[in-house]
Amino acid sequence: MGMTAATDTRLDVAPLSGWTGALISGVDLSSPLSANDVKTIRDALHTWKVVFFRDQTLDHAAQIAFGAQFGEVTPGHPYEGDSAPPEFPQIHTVSPAAYDHRYGTKYRKKQSPNGPGWHADVTPLINPPSHSILLAEKVPPYGGDTQFVNVAAVYQGLAPAVRALIDDLRAEHRFESTATAERSTEKIGDLVRTNPLASVHPVVRVHPETQERVVYVNPSFTKEIVNLSPRESRHLLDLLFEQIARPEYAVRFKWEPGSVAFWDNRAALHLAPRDFEHVHGDRVLHRITLVGDVPVGPDGVASESISGEFFGAA
Ligand code: SIN
Repeated sequence: MGMTAATDTRLDVAPLSGWTGALISGVDLSSPLSANDVKTIRDALHTWKVVFFRDQTLDHAAQIAFGAQFGEVTPGHPYEGDSAPPEFPQIHTVSPAAYDHRYGTKYRKKQSPNGPGWHADVTPLINPPSHSILLAEKVPPYGGDTQFVNVAAVYQGLAPAVRALIDDLRAEHRFESTATAERSTEKIGDLVRTNPLASVHPVVRVHPETQERVVYVNPSFTKEIVNLSPRESRHLLDLLFEQIARPEYAVRFKWEPGSVAFWDNRAALHLAPRDFEHVHGDRVLHRITLVGDVPVGPDGVASESISGEFFGAA
């Protein structure tokens, strides 16, 4: 679907919780956006960290064209390119069938040892994607929502002494940091072993646009805080993971076909509760991501790659 002329629309931004998420209405995402509309959406992302749209009609090309108005679009996933539609390497499909293809059926029932899988997308990269845009094609009648949490609010909610303690720390993020021996033999295991992705990021990241400080660890990919003993790292990470999971910082979004979630991975974590596998009805969503910058901590020091290259445009 090509884009021809910029539309002139009146967007409405309706917050959905105290800290996180706003529903934007009054815009057709399949048409080119005016500069004002791009600014309204960007401003809403700065405040609410994730914005949602309903009743959109987007094919793969139109979803990519929408995202390209906010940044360069990456390949769908550093490891999972073989499951992208051949003409659209930018598309990463999320569905039980897609996960079975990548990881094998046993993965579905697994719970990570770090607890529920809050994450930002692919943080083991040296430059994790700045934003993700997820479009629902099919959803079950109930279950299969997605939760988001504002990690700038999580940082602000910590006591000043705890903020001061974590401001200078760094943590290792590794793909499959929660892998079991069984899972590491699944389809992408060889790729992960031959091309490991791992980086050391600041525990507190300064957002490059808002200058806010955010808690930048997540239970899915953060392996340990470096230069601490294993017990110190474990306790500190558990404290931060507990704060991330506080319901007052989060929003829960119920999908409909044509719904879009657009979030800032530098300011929000997300989690898909696995509560729909017994429900009749498929869940198929398509994700694209935008090229991210290298994180920087409050001390001005940037992240370092342990293994893996800069993740650029598709
Ligand atoms: C994702 O982690 O990007 C997908 C979230 C979801 O399935 O709701």
